[in-house]
Amino acid sequence: MKLLQLDSSPLGAYSVTRELGAAVVAQWRQAVPGLDVKYRDLASEALPHWTPLPREAVDSLAPDVRAEVERNEALLQEFLAADVVVVGAPMYNFGIPSQLKAWVDRIAVAGRTFRYTAEGPQGLAGGKRVIVLSGRGGFYADGAMQAADFQEAYLRQVFSFLGVTEIEFIRAEGIGIGTEQRAASLAAAHARIAQHGVAKAA
Ligand SMILES: Cc1cc2nc3c(=O)[nH]c(=O)nc-3n(C[C@H](O)[C@H](O)[C@H](O)COP(=O)(O)O)c2cc1C
Repeated sequence: MKLLQLDSSPLGAYSVTRELGAAVVAQWRQAVPGLDVKYRDLASEALPHWTPLPREAVDSLAPDVRAEVERNEALLQEFLAADVVVVGAPMYNFGIPSQLKAWVDRIAVAGRTFRYTAEGPQGLAGGKRVIVLSGRGGFYADGAMQAADFQEAYLRQVFSFLGVTEIEFIRAEGIGIGTEQRAASLAAAHARIAQHGVAKAA
C-alpha cells in the first residue's frame, strides 16, 4: 500500500498543517505495517510555475529541461500510484499556497489523470483516498465567511475532477485569533484524527 504525503506550509515547526499531517501519517504507519510512504516538501523544495515542456525525445533535451520533464513525470507517477494522499494545505488569501498549486499543475494532466469526452470531463485517477489537513487563520466552516472558502472548495473540485470520490478534510480554524484558540483548534483536530481513525479503512 502506498501513501503520498505533501506539505506546503513554509512555517516549519510552527505549521499546524505539518503537525496534523504528521499525526495522520503516523496513524497510517501504525495501521499498515510496511506502508510505502513517499514524502514531498513543496515548501522547502518548491516547484517552479508550470511552463510547457516537450514530452517527446527526452534524451535529446538540454539537461535542465530533461530534469524538469522527468521530475514532472515522477510527481505524476507518485500521485497515480498512491492509495492514500495526505495533503497539508494552509489557506492563503482564501485559496491554497502557490507551492501547492504548482503541484496541482503537475498532476492535472489531460489523458493521464482526466480526459474530456463528448459526455463531459472524466476523472482517471479514482480509487484513492485523499485526506486534507486544512489550516486557516479565521473561521470558514460555518457562517458568513463560508462563501470565501476557495481553499477547501478548490481542492475538493480538483480531486473530484480527477476522479477521487473519497476526500476528507480535517481542519484547524481560527489559528490567527490567538494562542488559546490555536491550541484548542489543534487539540480538536488531533482528537478528530484519533477518534475517527483516519486509517481505519486500511
Ligand atoms: C500569505 C498568507 C495568507 C493567508 N491568508 C489567509 C486567509 O485568506 N484566510 C485565513 O483565514 N487565514 C489566512 N492565513 C493564515 C493561515 O491560513 C493560517 O496561519 C494557517 O494556520 C496556515 O497553516 P500552517 O500553520 O500550516 O502554515 C494566511 C497566512 C499567510 C502566511
